[in-house]
Amino acid sequence: MNPADAKHVASGSGEFPRAVGYEVAGVVAAVGPDTEIASGPVAVGDEVLAFRISGGWATDVTVAAADVFAKPDSLSFGEAANLLPAGTTAAEMLHVTGTTEGDTILVHGASGAVGVSVLQQAARIGSRAIGTARPASHDVVRRFGGVPVAYGEGLEQRVRDAVPDGVAAALDCVGTDEAVDTSLVLAADRGRIVTTVAAERAPASSRSPSLARSSSPMPWRQPSC
Ligand SMILES: NC(=O)c1ccc[n+]([C@@H]2O[C@H](COP(=O)([O-])OP(=O)(O)OC[C@H]3O[C@@H](n4cnc5c(N)ncnc54)[C@H](OP(=O)(O)O)[C@@H]3O)[C@@H](O)[C@H]2O)c1
Repeated sequence: MNPADAKHVASGSGEFPRAVGYEVAGVVAAVGPDTEIASGPVAVGDEVLAFRISGGWATDVTVAAADVFAKPDSLSFGEAANLLPAGTTAAEMLHVTGTTEGDTILVHGASGAVGVSVLQQAARIGSRAIGTARPASHDVVRRFGGVPVAYGEGLEQRVRDAVPDGVAAALDCVGTDEAVDTSLVLAADRGRIVTTVAAERAPASSRSPSLARSSSPMPWRQPSC
């Protein structure tokens, strides 16, 4: 289950019945004539995943072909059904912060759905991730390649102790003032700070959904997901 679905249900907003399920994985039961999905040709019986949809928690769903992708064989249906929102958000955060091989980055909320994907993708890029989490979640951060640091009072100093040379970029999946303020102090370049949450701390000019990196002095970037 994606935490985003739980938050959608718990939010209390919207009318009932409230459709749940932003993403699915399954088997194609029917397809229109001459239809291709986002990843290419498709046929009845193919294993696919789909995002972003509404009401995925159903036995059958009808979805737009443009939102459907071939399911990687290496993934179970459960894994595939949790891949895209968190994974693409993480990829976009790494992209807009320009994270590259050799960078050390700070990841707030590193044990969560998006944070874990950031850790995994950062490891593939060859960057080193310092990830904030409560101590009970530190093994999760380690398992996915990050260096855990406890959030809470004293966070800034703990990060400094872990990385005396500082961090190149900060990726915030939490949005607390502590996460924002620590990022502003520790990131060498304020143009390399991104948040999925703290829009109110960002100047309006930086909330563009554009993925293009900019050399303008925008202190915050927010991914478009
Ligand atoms: N999930 C998605 O597909 C998705 C897609 C786009 C955007 N988003 C947004 O991205 C954000 C993160 O989503 P998520 O799905 O990764 O959430 P999540 O799985 O619920 O993870 C949130 C993490 O925040 C940590 N946390 C809680 N309180 C904290 C604090 N005071 N300081 C630092 N960390 C704290 C928790 O770690 P501990 O357990 O270690 O305390 C938890 O692992 C949300 O704003 C969400 O709306 C999510």
